[in-house]
Amino acid sequence: MAYKNIIVTGGAGFIGSNFVHYVANNHPEVHITVLDKLTYAGNRENLAGLPEGQVELVVGDIADAQLVDKLVSQADAVVHYAAESHNDNSLKNPFPFIQTNIIGTYTLIEACRKYEVRFHHVSTDEVYGDLPLREDLPGHGEGAGEKFTPETRYNPSSPYSSSKASSDLLVRAWVRSFGLEATISNCSNNYGPYQHIEKFIPRQITNILSGIRPKLYGSGKNVRDWIHTNDHSSAVWTILNKGKIGETYLIGADGEKNNKDVLELILEQMGQPSDAYDVVKDRPGHDLRYAIDSTKLREELGWKPEFTNFEDGMKDTIAWYTAHEDWWKSEKEAVENNYKQNGQ
Ligand code: NAD
Ligand code: DAU
Repeated sequence: MAYKNIIVTGGAGFIGSNFVHYVANNHPEVHITVLDKLTYAGNRENLAGLPEGQVELVVGDIADAQLVDKLVSQADAVVHYAAESHNDNSLKNPFPFIQTNIIGTYTLIEACRKYEVRFHHVSTDEVYGDLPLREDLPGHGEGAGEKFTPETRYNPSSPYSSSKASSDLLVRAWVRSFGLEATISNCSNNYGPYQHIEKFIPRQITNILSGIRPKLYGSGKNVRDWIHTNDHSSAVWTILNKGKIGETYLIGADGEKNNKDVLELILEQMGQPSDAYDVVKDRPGHDLRYAIDSTKLREELGWKPEFTNFEDGMKDTIAWYTAHEDWWKSEKEAVENNYKQNGQ
């Protein structure tokens, strides 16, 4: 079925807004209603320049059952990105994560059940917990170490990842017990334009642009599996339109890198010495390594990533933050003060 009238929750945030741009650019026949509460992480500017007749922003809460009921009754699919998304915030105050990620998801799937509306749930690889570092395994090197697959046991570490795991399980139960027409995707770390400056890559870029030394947590050996946000968008679109109901797809682009290497690349590309950063307090419960096996998505649905040159992607991302100082500058001081209180 070709969906013509979709709701994108969290469409004014980082990945959601990139998805809205992706759909608007590639599928002009699809009408998009963005449902977004515009929390500190949401920004209407992320949707600036999109055709008004095609993209409509409704400012509201996904846990507002009345509003959700009204919007879902007029849609044929919901793509659910809205969430509290930052691990460090969840360690300080878990409540909004429980409210939005669990109760909010519950509210949406209840409405989709009532109106028999297709639902795609955007989730994270963090529901699987972490993997050991390759270097700590016997015969370490490229081949050492397993990756996450759709069969990996759930084992989340933080309030954020456990709230996302809870929401995944709600969706699975609604499929089985109520026949909800849903799919789930679990993606690795995204990077690209419009990412909030609390997150690792934009924090370091905007630190350097502001004359502040970048901050690396702990040893810097923790590995994340980076994917450009445009590739996440094409994967979600593929799953929405070609995915099998009830299935989970893992999204990744074979982009494993440790944090120290990523930071050194940013420093090099911004003309700084490779040791011009501070080591700060580690994150409690800090996951060691994420790595995605996306074979199922590639082989069953024919998806593949296109933005796989990390050095080029980083150059573009640095250029975006350099050109869009007005987008992030006013929040920089508050974000850094918040981190400072944590010793980070
Ligand atoms: P983000 O924090 O940048 O954006 C979240 C958006 O949701 C914001 O626009 C915010 O205003 C909105 N929102 C929050 N609470 C809401 C509520 N109660 N009602 C309506 N809107 C609300 O997050 P992101 O990094 O773009 O992540 C989007 C989704 O993708 C999340 O579900 C996250 O778990 C998932 N994800 C993120 C990554 C990543 O690397 N960032 C990787 C995999 C999956
Ligand atoms: O794996 C997917 C997840 O990726 C998403 O589900 C989350 O929403 C998203 O925020 C991201 O989670 P991480 O915790 O991996 O991302 P973050 O950008 O916070 O941190 C990336 C790594 O960098 C992590 O190992 C912690 C480290 N770090 C982070 C910050 C902010 C630093 O070393 N220094 C920093 O200043």
